[in-house]
Amino acid sequence: MLRYATAADAPALFELGTDAEVTRFFSWGPYTSVDEPAAYIARLAGERERGERLEFLIVDRAGRALGVTGLSEFSRRDRRAVIGTWLGRPFWGTGVNRAAKTLVAGLAFRVLGLERLGAYTDLDNPRSQTALERIGFSREGVLRDWHRHGDQVHDVIVLSWLKREWERSPLAHEPIDVVGEPPAAFRC
Ligand SMILES: CC(C)(COP(=O)(O)OP(=O)(O)OC[C@H]1O[C@@H](n2cnc3c(N)ncnc32)[C@H](O)[C@@H]1OP(=O)(O)O)[C@@H](O)C(=O)NCCC(=O)NCCS
Repeated sequence: MLRYATAADAPALFELGTDAEVTRFFSWGPYTSVDEPAAYIARLAGERERGERLEFLIVDRAGRALGVTGLSEFSRRDRRAVIGTWLGRPFWGTGVNRAAKTLVAGLAFRVLGLERLGAYTDLDNPRSQTALERIGFSREGVLRDWHRHGDQVHDVIVLSWLKREWERSPLAHEPIDVVGEPPAAFRC
């Protein structure tokens, strides 16, 4: 299940994000203080309202936090957004990534009216590339000097998944429930 994170989730996110392997390809982390995930969570409501970021905590049936996924770089005019995901190390290779992508893609293509999901992955992150391609994403090319981590600049691979491709995939046929209304700023 995906749900909005609340302040009470900061300790669980902290635990997942203290692993340097998990945050290796990000501009943030590994977390060193619970204040960092708390500040991230505190920013989310405003980012949802402004149409900047629509991110969710991934939780299992028992309510345990597994990771984060969601959308950014939303463009209403072009009906597209970028999907991103990170999972706590114990949940890699468990099917959680596929389940989370099923939910975000259903939300994006069926509820929000998007027609394209993009994804970025570091050139040196073949696990993420493979995970995206297995779901149905196609590799489009390399964005040179795209992502900055401190004083290091990284090339990034851009991938995409179009609505018409998603419609033909088994993920589109998995039933999903969306409870409540999506933020107005994220509807096409
Ligand atoms: C990226 C991430 C969400 C993917 O989830 P996951 O559960 O690890 O992905 P999956 O297990 O479904 O798929 C990964 C696939 O890559 C394969 N793989 C692993 N290492 C690989 C490598 N070096 N080269 C190519 N493929 C590789 C795995 O074997 C697996 O395929 P398989 O199931 O056929 O064996 C997760 O690994 C993660 O959170 N990573 C850290 C954060 C991150 O990098 N996020 C992406 C930023 S763009």
